[in-house]
Amino acid sequence: MTTTFAVVGLHGYGAQHLGQINELAEAGRARLVGVADPRGGEGARNLPEGTAVYSDLDALLAEVTPDVVTLATPIHTHLPLAERAMRAGAHVLLEKPTTASLAEFERLVQVSDETGKAVQIGFQSFGSHAFERIADIVTSGQIGEVRGIGGLGLWRRARSYYDRSRWAGQRRLDGVEVVDGAVTNPLAHSIASALRIDGSSRAEDVAEVVVDLYHANDIEADDTSAVRLRTTKGTPIALGLTLAAEEPDTKPRILVHGTEGTIEFRYTSDDLVVRTAEGETTETVGRTGLFVNLLDHLEGGTPLLADVRDTGAFMRVLEAVRTAPDPAQVRDDCFTQVGEGPDSYRVIHGVDDWCRRVATELATFSELGAPWTR
Ligand SMILES: NC(=O)c1ccc[n+]([C@@H]2O[C@H](COP(=O)([O-])OP(=O)(O)OC[C@H]3O[C@@H](n4cnc5c(N)ncnc54)[C@H](O)[C@@H]3O)[C@@H](O)[C@H]2O)c1
Repeated sequence: MTTTFAVVGLHGYGAQHLGQINELAEAGRARLVGVADPRGGEGARNLPEGTAVYSDLDALLAEVTPDVVTLATPIHTHLPLAERAMRAGAHVLLEKPTTASLAEFERLVQVSDETGKAVQIGFQSFGSHAFERIADIVTSGQIGEVRGIGGLGLWRRARSYYDRSRWAGQRRLDGVEVVDGAVTNPLAHSIASALRIDGSSRAEDVAEVVVDLYHANDIEADDTSAVRLRTTKGTPIALGLTLAAEEPDTKPRILVHGTEGTIEFRYTSDDLVVRTAEGETTETVGRTGLFVNLLDHLEGGTPLLADVRDTGAFMRVLEAVRTAPDPAQVRDDCFTQVGEGPDSYRVIHGVDDWCRRVATELATFSELGAPWTR
């Protein structure tokens, strides 16, 4: 069976979608029937020559109804474009973060229910085989009783990252919610993966969320934040996340803290490190791709790995960020500006250690007394 695809949003992460579809096309499982972007197709990476290019999704749907529409567009366009695609009869692969608010998320689920169309959300870490492995390790008693889950994300983003699109780093744009901060977009996988490890992926699985939002960069949204939450199971979860790291690390990590040891999950490379009194073991597990899983779902009923409904708990965190007061500016004496122009970046003094403390002590920056919070 060959499933037809259309890709919407070409000039950013959409290139990854095109790459995945090209691979599936080679394997005879997919066929690209069109793409849409107001910027056209010129210069779009991984776009096969001769593909029909439309200026927007409506123009595409007027000509063709693909089995699947994939969306790699700005956050505030997610709900309207996904709804349009489903109403036209297509399943959807929609990039994370799911939508710009909890109300939009609820609407998206409602449209999926009404139309019977699948919605896979682009949390690719959900395809990691680490979740089953972590559950097995915990059940085995190797790390004792789980007492909480921490998350650590130490990234650095240059000025060019925020300047690439009008919506980048915005909480709102032209009066519309965008919610593009460290917690809700670049490091969103950390939040969603920590919740999934706890088996708490639905909106109703979150009991309490506390957010502590800051920015060192001249943006509206947060670039350095702590999130502390409690799931309805009672698990405390806290994440220290920054895009202004001293020593950036491409591998954000989730820490499952047990009474007898810890499991560290590096979700960008599927590495698992287990530390107990007996020593340390490391293994790398496999991963199932979200596109392959979607095809398996459509062809044979395999459950979706990142069903929209299983992003509800993450959306509770996004909603807490969206409705929180605007992030506080980090004081000038707490960060250094390195360089000038598009490659320049800002580093918050000591932020790596403060993020580590959030992830291990399960408290926010303010609760721990980080200098920029005082
Ligand atoms: N899963 C991941 O790891 C991952 C990584 C990066 C980005 N993303 C997500 O991908 C999405 C896009 O992010 P980006 O960084 O590529 O953004 P971007 O702004 O760099 O690119 C967005 C593209 O969409 C196009 N576009 C804008 N509005 C459109 C519309 N109404 N119809 C069609 N095309 C439209 C733009 O012209 C541009 O080509 C976001 O939701 C982001 O969070 C996911």
